[in-house]
Amino acid sequence: MELSLESGNITAFQGDCIVVNLFKGVTQPSGGTGAVDQALNGAISQAIATGDFTGKAGTSLLLYTNQAIAAPRVLVVGLGSAAEFDFLAARKAAATTIKKLTGLKEVKRIGAIVNGTGIGGQDVTEMARAFALGAGLASYQARQYPAQDEPSGLEQCTLVEFDESKLPALQEGMEAGSNLAEAVCFTRDLVNDPPNILYPAVMAQRASDMATGTGLGCEVLGEDQMRELDMGMILGVSRGSRREAQLIILKHEPPGAETQEPLIFIGKGITFDTGGISLKPTGGMGEMKTDMAGAAAVIGALQAIATLKVPRKVYGLAVCVENMPDGNAFRPGDILTGMTGKTAEIISTDAEGRLVLADCLGYVKRYTPAAVVDLATLTGAIGIALGTQAAGLFSNDSSLQDALVAAADKSGDRVWPMPMYDEYMDTIKSDMAQVKNSGSRTSGVSSSAKFLEHFTEGYPWAHLDIAYMALHGKGGGAEGTKGASGYGVQLLTALAQTF
Ligand code: BES
Ligand code: MN
Ligand code: ZN
Repeated sequence: MELSLESGNITAFQGDCIVVNLFKGVTQPSGGTGAVDQALNGAISQAIATGDFTGKAGTSLLLYTNQAIAAPRVLVVGLGSAAEFDFLAARKAAATTIKKLTGLKEVKRIGAIVNGTGIGGQDVTEMARAFALGAGLASYQARQYPAQDEPSGLEQCTLVEFDESKLPALQEGMEAGSNLAEAVCFTRDLVNDPPNILYPAVMAQRASDMATGTGLGCEVLGEDQMRELDMGMILGVSRGSRREAQLIILKHEPPGAETQEPLIFIGKGITFDTGGISLKPTGGMGEMKTDMAGAAAVIGALQAIATLKVPRKVYGLAVCVENMPDGNAFRPGDILTGMTGKTAEIISTDAEGRLVLADCLGYVKRYTPAAVVDLATLTGAIGIALGTQAAGLFSNDSSLQDALVAAADKSGDRVWPMPMYDEYMDTIKSDMAQVKNSGSRTSGVSSSAKFLEHFTEGYPWAHLDIAYMALHGKGGGAEGTKGASGYGVQLLTALAQTF
């Protein structure tokens, strides 16, 4: 769907549908909604008076105009109460609009007014950003195999603004929102694509093409370079696969930030997780194509950070490996040595994520990072603890933790702080190595974070377990479709903008 902006009166818009809005509790619509109400002989006020439409968030009212205005349909979108209206509510209202109209086959071109800038009293640029973001997220469609010639759904959405002096501010917000939505959708494509089509070398190719297009620096380390660096943990996990592991490094180095220490993101990129020799049961194994969602989020976040020209130095590492059983695969009982000489005893080859991340945590020391944040679909246990409502947040630094909580509130990518007590370390003590890669049946989430912490090198660090955030369930919530959510892109971008 294409998004554009024009000045004019929404009642005169020529297209398949116009979209206006209503706050809860309003009985006499004003602004663009009021103008449409008048043109329709009070049809909107009547729907309010009869109690059929209240303006509740997430609801909408579809009216037919019977040639009273140019467009044959009007959609009135509920914004909820004006007092509670904010950026996230505006994003959702735009998404509701798109999802509702995508369900109408004949609706291709729509005109909408920006929500919340009238009696809502919100900032014009921010509201245009929220609209473009919500609309961009909600109009996402996963790739199909074979590819569809004609994507279904809306083709064109025009924001119509009566006050010409607001156009530059609206344009700026619209572009920022679209850039962010595009990055989230790039991540969704990476996560949705099947594991025979998207494997480590393909992720590296997609990341490097994106870097070329956006002006990011990009380096890719293959297994020869990993051997030179003694990255025994990544190489250990990769041994069972015919696909070469790749460590993708993206660099955003904006002018003026040359001397700044980088904020570094690391993403787990297991392009398929069979469990290896500790083979997973068959049921649902196909879902493990999404075990690279952390890496995909990091790549998408770097795209957003580049296109939004965030004025801080940010590096992103995506460690891409396939975890397969094979005659050459690593085994339970093996001891692996990472690039900094730290060792781990393998209890389960299915606890592979922490191993590939461990070498990255060692590698980034060379950059003297301002902070390091890793994202990983690391444990099933995090889903038992938090469900699909928040990622688990583990950190050794309270100000980084606070910054992430604030970025989560701002972006809507929720996080929830989890404990890092020293005693959790007891559960991953090994008889023969420094640590073992799997502990007791209880405390599975915190012990995985303690494992990672063991491999950090003195910098502020946080770990996000996103195992149950990477996918949307059936229906896809307000802003997505079933499949990849793109979780993390907005969170990391918000962090980079404030850190
Ligand atoms: N990729 C999985 C975690 C996962 C589970 C992600 C469900 C998404 C949905 C990870 O590599 C894994 O297998 N973890 C094991 C760890 C255990 C062996 C210590 C797990 O959670 O069971
Ligand atoms: Mn696993
Ligand atoms: Zn995994």
